[in-house]
Amino acid sequence: MGLKLNIAATSLLLLLASAAEVSGDIIFDVTKYGARTDGNSDISQALLKAWGDACSSPVASTVMIPDGTYALGQIIIAGPCKAPINFVVQGTVMAPVDTSRFRAEAGWITFQQIDQFTLSGDGVFDGQGKTVWGTKCLSSSYCNQLPINLRFNFITNSMVKDITSRDSKQFHINLLGCKNLTFYNVVISAPQESLNTDGIHIGRSSGINITDSTIETGDDCVSIGDGSEQINIQRVTCGPGHGISVGSLGKYPNEEPVVGISVKNCTLTNTQNGVRVKTWPASHQGTASEMHFEDIVMNNVGNPIIIDQEYCPHNQCNLKSPSRIKISNVSFRNIRGTTSTQVAVKLICSQGEPCQDVELGDINLEYNGNEGPAMSQCKNIKPNLLGVKKKKKKKKKKKKKKKICLIQINQNKI
Ligand SMILES: *[C@@H]1O[C@H](CO)[C@@H](O)[C@H](O)[C@H]1NC(C)=O
Ligand SMILES: *[C@@H]1O[C@H](CO)[C@@H](O)[C@H](O)[C@H]1NC(C)=O
Ligand SMILES: *[C@@H]1O[C@H](CO)[C@@H](O)[C@H](O)[C@H]1NC(C)=O
Ligand SMILES: *[C@@H]1O[C@H](CO)[C@@H](O)[C@H](O)[C@H]1NC(C)=O
Repeated sequence: MGLKLNIAATSLLLLLASAAEVSGDIIFDVTKYGARTDGNSDISQALLKAWGDACSSPVASTVMIPDGTYALGQIIIAGPCKAPINFVVQGTVMAPVDTSRFRAEAGWITFQQIDQFTLSGDGVFDGQGKTVWGTKCLSSSYCNQLPINLRFNFITNSMVKDITSRDSKQFHINLLGCKNLTFYNVVISAPQESLNTDGIHIGRSSGINITDSTIETGDDCVSIGDGSEQINIQRVTCGPGHGISVGSLGKYPNEEPVVGISVKNCTLTNTQNGVRVKTWPASHQGTASEMHFEDIVMNNVGNPIIIDQEYCPHNQCNLKSPSRIKISNVSFRNIRGTTSTQVAVKLICSQGEPCQDVELGDINLEYNGNEGPAMSQCKNIKPNLLGVKKKKKKKKKKKKKKKICLIQINQNKI
C-alpha cells in the first residue's frame, strides 16, 4: 500500500515541476506557480492553478502560501478533490480595498464542497475593511453585500486551525451546510467600532466545534443561525464585540430548528452582551432547544445572560405580535464575574410561546453601579433554579415571586 502511494506520488512529481514532497504530502507552492510576494500583483491565477493540481492529486496534498505578503482578489476554492487536501497559509494575504472589485453577497475567499480539508498555518487573511465600516454601513443592505473574509460552504470532516482573520469588511467567517468542521486556535481581530463584523456565523450546519480561539470584533463573537445542530464552543475568548448569540431567529419563513448548542469555559470581556438567544417578534415559526451555557467568566459584560424574544433593531418589526419561536431546554450554569448593566439576567420570552425548561444555577455576577445590586428581569417564563445557595431570606423572596423573577445573583466575591 505504502509503496503504491509512493509510486503515484513520484510519478506526479515528475509531471509537475512545481510540486515538492514533504513528509508524504505533495506540496503545491503558489510561488512556484508565479505568485509574487510584492503585495501588489493578484495571486488568484497562481493559487487556482496550484489548487487545481493539488485537488486532482490522487494522494494527500498541500497547497502552500509561504511567508510574505500577497494580494488576492475574490476567489472560489472548490472541491470535490480526489484525496484529503491541506491548505497551509504562512504569509499575509490581503483583500482588495476597493469594494467594487467584489460581486455582491459573495465571500472574499470561498471554500466549497471539500471533504477532509485542513486549513492551517499561522498566516493572516486581511480583509482591509477599515474604509467600509463608516456611516454608510449603517444602512444594513449595503453592509450585507460587503464581502465576508472566509466562506465555508458544504465543507465536511475538516479542520481550520492556527490562522488569523483580520479586519473583514463584513462577517469574518461564515458557515453554510457544513458537517463535522472544527475550528481550533483561530484568531479573529477587528476593532470594536467595525460594523457587522461577526466573528464566526454558523448556518445550517452540524457537528461544528470552535475551541481555544480568540475573537475580538465589532459584532457577535459567534452567531448561530437557523439549522444549526450540535455546535460546541469551548475555551473561546470574546471581546470586544456583542457576545455569543443564538439568532436572530424568526425573521424569515421556513427556518430550520436550532438544537444542541453547548458553550463552555468561555471568557467574555467588555462585550455588549454575554450569552444571548434572540428572536424577532411577529416572526415565522421555529424552535430553539437544548442550549446549554456553562462555566463562563464575564468581565464587565452588558446583559451577561439574556433571552430576548423582542429583538427588533432599528424598529424593523411589529412589537405587538409575539415571537413564534419556541425556546426550550436551556441552561445557564456557573456564570460568574462582573456585569456592566444592572440587569444581569434578562429572560424576555414570547407571550405566544413561553419559554420552557429554562434552568439557572450558580449565577454570580457583580454590578458596581450606584443604582444598587445586580437584578434579574423575566417575562413569560418560570425559570427553574439549580444549585442556588438558598439563604435565610428564602420566604420573603417567594412572596415576590410573581413580580420579579426568582433568580439569585450572588454578590459575594467569586
Ligand atoms: C470528523 O472530522 C475529522 C477530521 O477533522 C475526522 O478525523 C473524523 O473522522 C470525522 N468524524 C466523523 C464521524 O466522520
Ligand atoms: C466536538 O466537541 C464535542 C464536545 O466537546 C466532542 O464530543 C467531539 O468529539 C468534538 N468533535 C471533534 C471532531 O473534535
Ligand atoms: C472549565 O471550567 C471549569 C470551572 O471553571 C473548570 O473546573 C474546568 O477545569 C474547565 N475545563 C476545561 C477543559 O478548561
Ligand atoms: C435537554 O438537553 C439535553 C442536552 O442536550 C438532553 O440530553 C436532554 O434530553 C434534553 N431534555 C429534554 C427534555 O429534551
